[in-house]
Amino acid sequence: MNRLNDKVAIITGGAAGIGLATAKRFVAEGAKVMLVDVQADALDQAVKSLGSDVAASCVADVTQDEQVAAYVRATMERFGRLDILFNNAGIEGAVEYLLNYPLDMFDRVMAVNVRGVWLGLQHAIPEMLKTGGGSIICTSSLAGLKGARKASAYIASKHAVVGLVKSVSMEYAAKNIRINAINPGPISTRMIAALETALSPGDANRAHQQMEASVPMRRYGSPDEVAGLVLFLASDESSYCTGTCFSVDGGMNAS
Ligand SMILES: NC(=O)c1ccc[n+]([C@@H]2O[C@H](COP(=O)([O-])OP(=O)(O)OC[C@H]3O[C@@H](n4cnc5c(N)ncnc54)[C@H](O)[C@@H]3O)[C@@H](O)[C@H]2O)c1
Repeated sequence: MNRLNDKVAIITGGAAGIGLATAKRFVAEGAKVMLVDVQADALDQAVKSLGSDVAASCVADVTQDEQVAAYVRATMERFGRLDILFNNAGIEGAVEYLLNYPLDMFDRVMAVNVRGVWLGLQHAIPEMLKTGGGSIICTSSLAGLKGARKASAYIASKHAVVGLVKSVSMEYAAKNIRINAINPGPISTRMIAALETALSPGDANRAHQQMEASVPMRRYGSPDEVAGLVLFLASDESSYCTGTCFSVDGGMNAS
């Protein structure tokens, strides 16, 4: 298990869900990881479980330019290089029709899901240029490929992630920095549970069953199933892949 031997990765949203599952996979494959999140206690626990020789953490809000600069700086100070950025922190926002959607929530969703990803690219790429390349994986969503009712801000933000990946990948492809998007369908994390509650207040199980029924594979994915795709994109096995979207969605994007 050494597909990421000697590589150093930053994982935003690394304290939970898809980010934490990916951290476990990365460490198992020989990488050192810097976990970035707003949840300090969960970060401490994650580092403890991964091992403080191979994992470290930085409390940072990905929407803040100086905090993004700080998490990249902390990575260089601790591990000396940067090969992989998993640009993954995100929030779901409100479940509301456009006319009822709170403006401040729209702004927050765009800040975390778009500005956070853009800042990650801006601060990580200079470090990768110094060592001749790297791999960046940005978490979009099935919602970055398709529309849906009552999720306009989230859907716009995840489409924007695809736009960032397509444009910035062209700027750095010749410099050996690969940038790809992943597009998960429903994955069993806090986020999908929150969406179920918002969609079906008082009976989240109803929303769960409806959502599962809409997946061709008839089940949610696990964070580890997403981590497997991220690992492929982070590793040299995907050395000719850049600027594109990779679905991990139980077949949902096929229809
Ligand atoms: N779970 C799904 O069904 C699903 C589907 C498609 C895409 N996604 C995307 O996957 C990514 C990970 O989500 P998840 O499902 O693991 O949910 P999650 O809520 O378990 O994890 C998200 C993490 O991001 C962190 N975070 C939120 N705002 C932050 C900020 N401003 N700065 C730093 N960290 C911040 C949270 O504290 C949390 O630990 C998100 O971008 C989400 O949009 C999730």
